[in-house]
Amino acid sequence: MKLLLLLSVGLGLAWTLQDQSQVPVQPGFSPEQVTGSWETLELASNDRSVVEEEGAYECFMTGIDLLDNGNLNISYFHRKDGRYINGFYVAEKTDTPGRYIFEYHGKNYLTFVAVTEKFTIMDLENQRDGNPLIVVELHGRTREAGKLGMVHYRRQTARRGILPSNIVDVFFKRYGSS
Ligand SMILES: *[C@@H]1O[C@H](CO)[C@@H](O)[C@H](O)[C@H]1NC(C)=O
Repeated sequence: MKLLLLLSVGLGLAWTLQDQSQVPVQPGFSPEQVTGSWETLELASNDRSVVEEEGAYECFMTGIDLLDNGNLNISYFHRKDGRYINGFYVAEKTDTPGRYIFEYHGKNYLTFVAVTEKFTIMDLENQRDGNPLIVVELHGRTREAGKLGMVHYRRQTARRGILPSNIVDVFFKRYGSS
């Protein structure tokens, strides 16, 4: 019993430490900066299968609304059986501006790592069995604008230990090169 308790305290600590060192939040974040419409350029994960071929995190974000209580309503579409389906989820604010939590296959920690007028980089961590699933997303106000976030995005995927081969250009997959 004591051992179990110690073990879970240890896991909690590990998350806290990792959270701070690998997932910096955008300094001075305010939610108004991220409201409005978005295009998803790239998705990356330590488990590539979740961001490709109708995987659980193969989502194309279309917009963010700020709710009265300070939470975010995040709209997206995803593929199911070859069709595109609209959805949304509500990300609940935490004590730290720019960090949110939502439920989806368990608890997800969402951090806005970078926000500019042109692009945003979102980092998601889903903890399952002490073996975190990490997803890093690059979104732009337009595709061209989003490309300006590429260097920063590559830095965040590297910081998270995600291999370049695990980065998927979902915009290209959906719309092609033009
Ligand atoms: C979130 O936005 C969608 C439209 O994209 C809407 O249908 C839904 O009611 C909104 N949810 C909340 C909690 O505001």
